Amino acid sequence: MLGPVILAASRSDRMRRLVSAAPVTQQVVDRFIAGEDVDDVVPVIRELTGRGLELTMDVVGEDITTPAQAAAARDAYLELIDRLKPLELGTRAEMSVKLSMFGQALDGGHELALANVRPVVEAAAEIGTTVTLDAEDHTTLDSMFAIHEELRKDFPQTGCVIQAYLFRTEADARRLAANGSRVRLVKGAYKEPGSVAYLDKHEIDRAYVRILRTLMEGEGYPMIGSHDPRLIAIGQELAHRAGRKLDEYEFQMLYGIRTEEQLRLAAEGHRVRVYTAYGTDWYGYFMRRLAEKPANLRFFARSMLTK
Ligand code: FDA
Repeated sequence: MLGPVILAASRSDRMRRLVSAAPVTQQVVDRFIAGEDVDDVVPVIRELTGRGLELTMDVVGEDITTPAQAAAARDAYLELIDRLKPLELGTRAEMSVKLSMFGQALDGGHELALANVRPVVEAAAEIGTTVTLDAEDHTTLDSMFAIHEELRKDFPQTGCVIQAYLFRTEADARRLAANGSRVRLVKGAYKEPGSVAYLDKHEIDRAYVRILRTLMEGEGYPMIGSHDPRLIAIGQELAHRAGRKLDEYEFQMLYGIRTEEQLRLAAEGHRVRVYTAYGTDWYGYFMRRLAEKPANLRFFARSMLTK
């Protein structure tokens, strides 16, 4: 029951001010956010790759309100790519971007987001890596898929995310699997109405398995974005049945969540990529992590009370 309330709060400016100003917030935020700037995350990148993990880097931020903020978001990614260059990690460190941070919701936003994301994809390709477009709420997805298709004409490695909770996703998966995309499948983290999405956990899990089967049997590169032990085991089984080798799919999890499981899978020879978020505009990202697990909220509330 708490999840939808927290997700609604994730879009509230008043809550943003309250939560961000709470003195203990930072301790809890640190569990999910790898640092405030590039200087903070470079050691994290070294540490995770040193432990056999790969990364997808997210400069946190979304729902910006001016073209200047969108340009600043683009520049933050370009700075990151510049700092990644001497590390020579190639695809071991890729980027995840939210198009709303690149101006997608502004006037002329589709074109603006494409214009801002293209130089990031180009710069990533220059250092031998790639970009994945995150999936945000369902109203943004036609634009995201169109931008994905456009970018893939020049950069076929560009990935995208699909969300199992949406009714539309089975059809999206069939299309993407047939055209050989890199596709991250997740359950979905936004507050969606019952007219477009499954609301029941079990139905979402069943949809996840159906969609994953489509991706595994298709021509693309499936990226299993989940911490759910059952879905991880099913993912391994479906990959095996589809005759995929270990380098023909990967697991992805979030920084700070089920780290031992990330290391266990990597030790078994799986490719495991850690979605590593950093930056100062962490509010929306943080609130979605709280909504996914009520225990996180209890931990947060307890730290506030004991302070
Ligand atoms: P589930 O929520 O059932 O969790 C399974 C278990 O994992 C829990 O029992 C718990 O142990 C652990 N766990 C999960 N979330 C936790 C948390 N926040 N804190 C502590 N423990 C937790 N969504 C989206 O809409 N668009 C996107 O682009 C992305 N991108 C993305 C990238 C990657 C790499 C991942 C892993 C996830 C996303 N998501 C996302 C988020 C996704 O939609 C979903 O909300 C979360 O992954 C939680 O779902 P699980 O599949 O992990 O299962």
